Amino acid sequence: MKVLVAVASKHGSTRDIADVVAEELQARGFLADVQAVTDDPDPRDYGAVVLGSAIYMGRWLAEARDWATRHEPTLEHMPLWLFSSGPIGDPPQPTEEPADPVQLAAVTGARGHTVFAGKLDPSALGLGERLVTRIVHAPYGDYRDFAAIHAWAQEIATELDAVRVT
Ligand SMILES: Cc1cc2nc3c(=O)[nH]c(=O)nc-3n(C[C@H](O)[C@H](O)[C@H](O)COP(=O)(O)O)c2cc1C
Repeated sequence: MKVLVAVASKHGSTRDIADVVAEELQARGFLADVQAVTDDPDPRDYGAVVLGSAIYMGRWLAEARDWATRHEPTLEHMPLWLFSSGPIGDPPQPTEEPADPVQLAAVTGARGHTVFAGKLDPSALGLGERLVTRIVHAPYGDYRDFAAIHAWAQEIATELDAVRVT
């Protein structure tokens, strides 16, 4: 089965998460492709979709929202998982689930939504971004939990195995 791992990432750390999800699915025998939503992959070419976005100012990136809206009629008829990447620090903050993927999950009947901690690298940020992160006292660092990401991808593979059998 072909699985699309579609991703929206501004500075690359969410893209890394998508790569790990795809690697894990490939290790379990699925043909997993990582595609940026800006390249507008067609979900009709796949048997399942994992869609993820970085969170900025409480929202999914606009290109992830746009892609999901355009492809909603297809996505609601296929196995779909969503992830967000953003919270920073130890423990990661903020803890509220972002509204965009929650809404999308409700509309599409997605099988799950997970929030992974993110990464803040000051050398990659623009001036405005650095200002915002300083105002909210966000700590710089890489807080991504790759063990949790591998485990989540394993769960998806197990559910897809069941889909493959039926
Ligand atoms: C200006 C700015 C605003 C951010 N706002 C949020 C936010 O509202 N919620 C959140 O969880 N993370 C927020 N983050 C953290 C990012 O989501 C995190 O750095 C993420 O790993 C970035 O992913 P990317 O490298 O794929 O772009 C913000 C980061 C920046 C620089």
